[in-house]
Amino acid sequence: MKATAFDEWAGRQLADVEAALCAWVPADAPAALGLAMRYGVLDGGKRLRPLLVLAGAEAVGGERGAALRAACAVELIHAYSLVHDDMPCMDNDVLRRGKPTVHVQYGQAQAMLAGDAMQALAFEVLTPEAELIAPALQARLCGLLARAAGHAGMAGGQAIDLASVGRPLDEQSLRDMHHRKTGALLQASVLMGAACGRTSDDEWAALARYGAALGLAFQVIDDILDVTQASETLGKTAGKDVDANKPTYVTVMGLDAALRHAGELRDRAQAALAEARLPHADWLAQLADKVVERDS
Ligand code: IPE
Ligand code: IPE
Ligand code: MG
Ligand code: MG
Ligand code: MG
Repeated sequence: MKATAFDEWAGRQLADVEAALCAWVPADAPAALGLAMRYGVLDGGKRLRPLLVLAGAEAVGGERGAALRAACAVELIHAYSLVHDDMPCMDNDVLRRGKPTVHVQYGQAQAMLAGDAMQALAFEVLTPEAELIAPALQARLCGLLARAAGHAGMAGGQAIDLASVGRPLDEQSLRDMHHRKTGALLQASVLMGAACGRTSDDEWAALARYGAALGLAFQVIDDILDVTQASETLGKTAGKDVDANKPTYVTVMGLDAALRHAGELRDRAQAALAEARLPHADWLAQLADKVVERDS
C-alpha cells in the first residue's frame, strides 16, 4: 500500500524521537540500570504520545526543539508506567512490546528502579540549559506532565484500577478511572505540544476537550483489543483483563456498545478539534481516527 502523507510525516517524527531517546536514555547508568532503562524505552511501542505532542505543536506553530523534548518526556513517563504496570504486584505480565517484560528480563528490583529513573529522566529532558528552552516554558511543560502523571492522573488512576479488581464499577466510575490512568497523559501530550506555541484561551480549551475525548477513546479501545486480538498482534498478553477480573468498558457495556462508544468519543474529539479552528490540525485529526481504528 502506498504511504500516505500522514505515514510520511509520522515516519519523520518517529525517526527524530527514536534518535533523541537513544541519545538521552543513558547506557552507562550504574550497575546495569541503564540497560534496563533502554530495554524498557527503546525499540518498541506505537509512540502515540510523542506523535500527539508533535502534532499538537505543529497545529500551533510550536517550537520544534521544545516539542521534541516534550515528546520524549511523555514517552519516558509512559514507558515507566508500563514497566511498573507489568510487575507482579500490579498486573503481573510477562510480555510487553513483543518482548519479555523488564522485571522478567532484569528482576523486580531493577525494574522498579528503571521505572523510577525513567520518571526522573523525563523531567531532566524537560529542563536543559535556558538557551534550549525558555525557563517559563520548561516550568509549564513540567507542570503539565507532573499533574498528568501523579496522584490526580496516571498514578491515581492505577490505584483505582487495583482497588477495583473484582468489583463492578458503574460507567461513571470506570470513565473516571480510565480518564486518570490513561486519558490524562494523552491529553497532556496534546497540551504540551500546544504549550510550545501560542494559543488563545478558547483554542487551549478546545484542545483540552479533544485530548480528553481521544484519551478516553484510547483506553476503551485498549479494553476492547484485550478481548478481540491475539497476544502476537498486541505484543502483550491478550485476555488479561478477564483473567484478572478487572472492570472494563467491555464488561460494563458489552463489546458492541463499547465499540460504538469509542466511535462517539472519536466524533467528540473531532468536533472539539474543529472548534479550535487551527490552521494545521490535520495530523491531530488523523491521530484521533487512528486511535479508534487500530488493532494493536
Ligand atoms: C498501553 O499503551 C497502556 C495503556 C495506557 C493502555 P500503548 O498501547 O500506547 O502501548 P505502547 O506504547 O504502544 O506499547
Ligand atoms: C495501563 O492500563 C495504564 C497504565 C497507566 C500503564 P492497562 O493495564 O490496561 O495497560 P496494558 O493493557 O497492560 O497495556
Ligand atoms: Mg494495568
Ligand atoms: Mg496492564
Ligand atoms: Mg489493557
